[in-house]
Amino acid sequence: MTDTIEAVFDTVAGVAGDVREVLASRRSYEAGENPSGEQQLAADVYADDRLEDQLLALDGVGSYASEERDSLSVDSGSYHVACDPLDGSSNLKSNNGMGTIVGIYDEQPPAPGDALVAAGYVLYGPITTMVTAVGETVTEFLVEDGEREVLNEDVTVPSEPVTYGFGGRAPDWPEEFAAFVESVEDDRLKLRYGGAMVADVNQVMTYGGIFGYPMLADNPEGKLRLQFEGHPMAYIVEAAGGASSDGSRSLLEKTPTEIHERSPVFVGNDALIAALESVLA
Ligand code: F6P
Repeated sequence: MTDTIEAVFDTVAGVAGDVREVLASRRSYEAGENPSGEQQLAADVYADDRLEDQLLALDGVGSYASEERDSLSVDSGSYHVACDPLDGSSNLKSNNGMGTIVGIYDEQPPAPGDALVAAGYVLYGPITTMVTAVGETVTEFLVEDGEREVLNEDVTVPSEPVTYGFGGRAPDWPEEFAAFVESVEDDRLKLRYGGAMVADVNQVMTYGGIFGYPMLADNPEGKLRLQFEGHPMAYIVEAAGGASSDGSRSLLEKTPTEIHERSPVFVGNDALIAALESVLA
């Protein structure tokens, strides 16, 4: 099992090196939309194609699912990889942070959160970093030329929260959630929201705090996809000593009925997640 997990992470880091190199020339929109109705950039398609090819070629990887394609690509193997190939890719136009998210499940998607055996993300910031979680071990790497070098072998969510960031338009937030956001402001947390989940969650991993994309008036399931975004990031934050929620329970307790299903997503310090759940209950 460890070999397959490490091979998946090595492959994602390798593809990240290639993605980083081609970003400047792949900023245009493609004709297509992804299954969630979002316009695809050439960079989204490039990252998805590379990940599918290289991950499915690994021994032990039995399927590849991605936010950018309707259905699974299936091979033989016991581990199943779900990816958001280029998270927050609309930030490419404005040259802000973006990421790649990977979840490794021991069941074929749609899979429950407790079928995750590992998860990781790559952050394309001023430098490229990668955070992986296997069991309770969370490690941060520098990625250069597609190779990983350990930066921090024991990443934990800092106990004193500093930052918060919530997606969606404030007028569309439920009243109780808007009141919670005010209480977070009263606690003197600082707003940090950049519009790419990986970059925004990495603020929480670095400084402590809370990130969320809540339920909205016209969309009670919010925006983020459980299988590709919610589950893997929840797994990483929980492994680093934090907590996750959909507003009432851990995201890892949820099972999607189809792979592109959405869910409200909250991750961060456990006290903040507990406070949020008590306000939304
Ligand atoms: O799912 C794509 C995504 O770009 C996330 O990375 C991010 O958290 C969210 O959408 C941003 O959405 P909005 O533009 O509504 O703030």
